[in-house]
Amino acid sequence: MNQVIVKKKHSQHLLHSNKIKESKNILLITSPGNHERSYISQFSEQIKPSDIFLVERYPDYELINQVLNLYQNTKHDLVISLGGGSVLDLAKIYCMASDANQKISSVHELNQIYSSKIFNIAIPTTAGTGAESTCFSTIWNKETKNKESFENIIMLPEVVYLVPSFINSLPDHILIPTMLDCISHCLDSLWSKNKTNESLSLCKKSLSLLIESFELNLNGTYSVISRNKLLEASNLAGQAINITRTSLSHAISYPLTNKFNLPHGLACAFTLNSINNYFEKEIFIEALEVEVKAILNIVNNFGLQEIYKSYFTDFSLEQIINEVFMNSRLDNFIVTPTKGDIESIIKSSLKKFI
Ligand SMILES: [Fe+2]
Repeated sequence: MNQVIVKKKHSQHLLHSNKIKESKNILLITSPGNHERSYISQFSEQIKPSDIFLVERYPDYELINQVLNLYQNTKHDLVISLGGGSVLDLAKIYCMASDANQKISSVHELNQIYSSKIFNIAIPTTAGTGAESTCFSTIWNKETKNKESFENIIMLPEVVYLVPSFINSLPDHILIPTMLDCISHCLDSLWSKNKTNESLSLCKKSLSLLIESFELNLNGTYSVISRNKLLEASNLAGQAINITRTSLSHAISYPLTNKFNLPHGLACAFTLNSINNYFEKEIFIEALEVEVKAILNIVNNFGLQEIYKSYFTDFSLEQIINEVFMNSRLDNFIVTPTKGDIESIIKSSLKKFI
């Protein structure tokens, strides 16, 4: 399915959109903060959502059932999802599963639902997840304390609006982990056995924009121009992992986030340099040599040591490694790693940062 990505003149796009004109029941899915900032009203007076659902936490099965139950008797014909990864992920599931008439408690049950798809306009307000351009969502399973990935080709939002002004007010403590997530998406995509010429080209463009944005930030502040580049880089990386899926750095990141509450982007970035050094020959791509070297150098010199030190306590290597091997993203990596490989990579990262 082709996705329309609108980077400018969003209001005009809305004005001329037959979908908006024809829609009678519009659902706005957003976060309390974005709702307070009235971002939606900046587009057009035309959008009058009949319902507004506020997402305050990461999607779990309880939240999915809550939104499905709430609108069981409502037929929405358009969803506008405006927010970060949690908002976009929940909206993608709702648009696919709105007709569900049973309680959902597993990815398997979500897969069994045959629903008419609701048209989804996704508007990211963070730069990093790329969730607006992927056909998968991450769901937190409270019982197993694991993040599960659910994908379905029809979940890809039909339209994306990239609005740079929405990320201008993001504080650095939110911007930095999401930016590291974007870098990890590019590298995991390059290291995936599913890579194609198209995914390579998307990664090359994304990495170039990320590097340019860092070059504009030498004084430590993220200018508006640099944030615009980040937003586009994030979207391109999202398109790349939509083709390849993520791989090794993400597989290692999940137990680190579960055990230490380490933010997702920081958890992914922890092993990037070590993976690159360990599997140097296997993952080398000549056409992207310059970009990969430059971005890894940036991650290396980002001053992350103090952040990691503040999170990691009683590091149980064996438990972490076992959890890495339960993650399906490992299968996407270009090499099948052994437990010894993962141990060496994590030890090398610990040596670097701790
Ligand atoms: Fe990620």
